[in-house]
Amino acid sequence: MIIQCPHCQTRFRLDARHLADRLAIRVRCARCHQIFTVTAPSSEEAPLKLEPAQEVRDAQVISFSNQKGGVAKTTSCLCMAVALARRGRRVLLVDFDTQANLTTLLGQRKVRSFYDLLSAEEPIRAGIVPVQDHLALLGANSRMNLLPKRYLNTQNYEQLLHKALGTVKADYDYIFIDTPPSLKFFALNGLVAADLVLIPTQCAFLSLQGVSQMEQVIQSLRKRLGRPAQHRLLITLYDAQSTASQAVYRTLRERWSEQILEPAIPLDNAVSEAQILQRFLFDYAPTGKAARAYLAAAEALESLL
Ligand SMILES: Nc1ncnc2c1ncn2[C@@H]1O[C@H](COP(=O)(O)OP(=O)(O)OP(=O)(O)O)[C@@H](O)[C@H]1O
Ligand SMILES: [Mg+2]
Repeated sequence: MIIQCPHCQTRFRLDARHLADRLAIRVRCARCHQIFTVTAPSSEEAPLKLEPAQEVRDAQVISFSNQKGGVAKTTSCLCMAVALARRGRRVLLVDFDTQANLTTLLGQRKVRSFYDLLSAEEPIRAGIVPVQDHLALLGANSRMNLLPKRYLNTQNYEQLLHKALGTVKADYDYIFIDTPPSLKFFALNGLVAADLVLIPTQCAFLSLQGVSQMEQVIQSLRKRLGRPAQHRLLITLYDAQSTASQAVYRTLRERWSEQILEPAIPLDNAVSEAQILQRFLFDYAPTGKAARAYLAAAEALESLL
């Protein structure tokens, strides 16, 4: 059962067996240390064994964003989500791109998009479909193109996704948003919804300028709305054989030493092969260099948040 500290509002998971045959017990909040009383739920559940109370926290929201195209935003979003789901974390993928690449990669054709749900005045929960254990998707379709047309002139349009995700945050450990290569409506919504923005960055000269532009937008949103709290760079499509790639990698590491989420994701044909075959990279080439790097990056992300 979920209980909430009445003092600091932190929620915890409490095994109902702690109550055993008692009507109420007193517990101490692990966060604010205040003591409060928990009463037994009215329905008789069948408890089996005691578990320590654990803090239940809302999902951490990560937006995969870069106004540059083809830098592996969608690939990274999917691979890292699958990596975390296979580690038992509950992950929601949100395809917030009219290209619907993420939805296509998952073989989902007839999804209801954010636009469909919003215009039908339905909660986004109604459009979430299961993908595999611990992994679910809020997909996209071409009707997403209507979203800016309808909402761009409304107040706080860049907070639409943030508000909607608030209704499902308690159901997941992580929410990963895939965004299009732009800094407009969809990308802005991703940035504002995010606790952390992950910027997939290719080791190419012009990427340096791209990251600086991304940072400017992030800083101005942070100043205005207090979000997103953090951002990190994920080096993608890294070609260890290329001198140019190595040089840009060195520059990125010097300039953004604190911001880089290690390791870099290497170029690996297995990534595109898996996508063509519509298989998860971790099933198609689990010991390949990209799969290993994505797994390590997902673990690094997990320990960061
Ligand atoms: N590590 C990798 N090795 C080889 N190919 C890769 C790797 N990562 C991604 N790719 C390929 O690069 C291409 C672009 O990837 P992806 O679609 O994820 O980029 P994107 O940033 O989401 O693109 P867009 O800006 O259009 O949304 C795809 O064809 C994908 O298969
Ligand atoms: Mg993409």
